Amino acid sequence: MPFPLERPRRLRDNLTLRELLRETRLSPLDLIYPIFVVPGRGVKAPISSLPRQFHLSPDKAAELAQDFYADGGRALLLFGLPDHKDEVGSSGADDKGPVQEAIRSIKSRVPEMLVITDVCLCEYTSHGHCGVLQDGRVLNDPTLKLLAAQALSHARAGADLVAPSDMMDGRVGAIRENLDQNGFERVPIMSYSVKYASAFYGPFREAANSAPQTGDRKGYQMDPANIREAAYEASLDLQEGADILMVKPAGPYLDVLREIRRLTARPLAAYQVSGEFFMLCAAAEQGGLDYKSAAFESLLGIKRAGADLILTYLAPEFLTW
Ligand code: PBG
Repeated sequence: MPFPLERPRRLRDNLTLRELLRETRLSPLDLIYPIFVVPGRGVKAPISSLPRQFHLSPDKAAELAQDFYADGGRALLLFGLPDHKDEVGSSGADDKGPVQEAIRSIKSRVPEMLVITDVCLCEYTSHGHCGVLQDGRVLNDPTLKLLAAQALSHARAGADLVAPSDMMDGRVGAIRENLDQNGFERVPIMSYSVKYASAFYGPFREAANSAPQTGDRKGYQMDPANIREAAYEASLDLQEGADILMVKPAGPYLDVLREIRRLTARPLAAYQVSGEFFMLCAAAEQGGLDYKSAAFESLLGIKRAGADLILTYLAPEFLTW
């Protein structure tokens, strides 16, 4: 009988002891902040579906980058809302697109900022799907070269890292090959390896104006019920040359995060998505929980489960806490 010899409470007796023995620590360097860039100048417009988040023109994105850096933030993830959409999302590979302009303007203002770009077609296609659409189906192989072209355009503009989120088969390999053939072998790929067809993307789709006009994304994003498939997806991305893997969403998928952590020695990221952020904001606003403590706990849980990096809309607030 361990008790009364064993008393776990001994090590919880005071704050200093608890702090010294803490197993998981969060740092500003764990966080990547996703932002939404739009064409134009002087634009900083609040996003109705995402509290305290903005649509930013490239110049305003650079201003935000400067403030974020001064507060200790080191990495941004860029999403773009283009002027023009078409069937095949060609504006995604436009060297003068909002993401490409924002990369240049952030880099010229804050050269040390790590600029990551989301590579996907859904913000750039008129139908809102993440690939080429034909008879209600998203075609895999024709989508690959469009994604590879977009990633190359981001690299040319100065992106430090590209992050494909489309879930087409073979995209990591296709992007790697195109980057390498064009002299960007040093640019790493952070792959959204394990991305579920989740209801938690709701607020984002409004923010990015990227909701599919017909159908859903279940033909390419993963079934939330599956975890063996997560391991399979991750292993394929590793074979294709992914440098960093990602699990998305994060909070409802901590078991998946743990599973992938065990599977690979590569760095692992987790995306605390728009719906997770929104739930925290809404619950706090309703008086149901303390925002700061609950937000902190949500990030701690993601890190404890095995994430090295967390993509989160909480990043700027976290830095001020
Ligand atoms: C684009 C993309 C999405 C998110 C990141 N990249 C939306 C989607 O797949 O529908 C979601 C991010 C969030 O909810 O915060 N494919």
